[in-house]
Amino acid sequence: MSLKTIKELLKTTIGLNVSTVGVSNFERAVRHRMKVLNLTDVNVYASRLIGGDELRELIDEVIVPETWFFRNPASFSALQEFVTHQWKGKLLGRKLMVMSVPCSTGEEPYSIAIALEQAGLQPVEFQIDAYDVSHRLLTKAKRGVYGRHSFRNKDDDVREKYFDLVGGTFMLADRIRNAVNFQYGNLLDKYFGINAPTYDIIFCRNLLIYFDRATQDLAMAKLHRMLNESGLLLIGHAEAPDFLRNNFQRAEYARAFAFTKLSTPLVQEPKPAKSLPELMANHPTPAHRAKSKPEFLKTVELNRVDTIPQTDAQVLREAARLANRGDLREAGTLCETYLRENPTSAQAYYLLGLVRESEGKHSIAGDLFKKAVYLDPNHYEAMIHLALHLARYGDAESAKKLQARAHRVLGRKKE
Ligand SMILES: C[S@@+](CC[C@H](N)C(=O)[O-])C[C@H]1O[C@@H](n2cnc3c(N)ncnc32)[C@H](O)[C@@H]1O
Repeated sequence: MSLKTIKELLKTTIGLNVSTVGVSNFERAVRHRMKVLNLTDVNVYASRLIGGDELRELIDEVIVPETWFFRNPASFSALQEFVTHQWKGKLLGRKLMVMSVPCSTGEEPYSIAIALEQAGLQPVEFQIDAYDVSHRLLTKAKRGVYGRHSFRNKDDDVREKYFDLVGGTFMLADRIRNAVNFQYGNLLDKYFGINAPTYDIIFCRNLLIYFDRATQDLAMAKLHRMLNESGLLLIGHAEAPDFLRNNFQRAEYARAFAFTKLSTPLVQEPKPAKSLPELMANHPTPAHRAKSKPEFLKTVELNRVDTIPQTDAQVLREAARLANRGDLREAGTLCETYLRENPTSAQAYYLLGLVRESEGKHSIAGDLFKKAVYLDPNHYEAMIHLALHLARYGDAESAKKLQARAHRVLGRKKE
């Protein structure tokens, strides 16, 4: 892996087109992380980005967190106008559903909460879900404590009414802080929003400017799916041409970049950027193969994949087939690539664990089995392998407990 592969990884994971933040900023971020980890070889650093927490650290380094209260005030006037003229009148007998993605350090969703209160809604009459891909920024958002830099408009009234000045920082009033649900969310994750409600209002401002055209299409198709038929989408001013390209039409709100959706989307949610054949083509089979199948892989159970969607099942079957054949490198690469697009796949973590185990990377394998069990607490095979791992590292007590749990799970499955 090289810098080019790291760029590609950021693009497929969070959609970031590195050139939009400056290649030198990206390289500085990588150098910084390598220094923190005391690494000098970029290839070694790149390998750390798979399967651990380092990708998260790098994302925190490269994203642009820039935001402030009531940024582009016209968006919030449009929200208030919508509530006054379209929402309140309807009395649908349910909450107004609002999403802010990306929410960064929280100034945007909190401004929404304040604007809704100013428009006369009580906290029980609305729900604000706020998502961002940076855990670090979300932690700051939940605290609700800000410096002067977060107030760049002439919003002294807001500061006075909704914040307490404590030791030079501004602490947000609890009732506004409690009005926002912050959650980790990657707009480009194919599972993003799958169990979420649809929304009456979506704020998606200053994110698509960091994507290339294909990724923007993917994001817009997703936003189209998540917005109610009569809902309103608010975007950043630089993004209007992208939204006019497909799926949305301009709504008449003075100075705001507000859109409603076309009832039939022109662009459907496209497939992930890379298909399985493309992925496989990028990793040609080497002439030299391991001759014999590692012993433990002979017992790899593939029946679990029958319970997941067909295309995903095929990818995981292929990974298991490669591993069984002794093509550990390809099997590992396929699992890693699959995990980038499906970070919650317990089966992929389990298979990758088997591969690492056979490569002698026991500690990494243990972590991967742990992740698989965390994601699917009924994953029998992952539990057994994790139990073996714990026993090997001297934690007999936990190993025994886990083994017993695995047998209970197996018993339930047979019933
Ligand atoms: C410039 S801020 C925009 C914040 C706010 N919407 C505004 O306009 O003030 C961009 C944010 O996008 C987040 N981000 C980047 N890629 C993302 C993705 N794929 N899904 C969700 N958030 C993402 C970053 O972490 C960062 O907080």
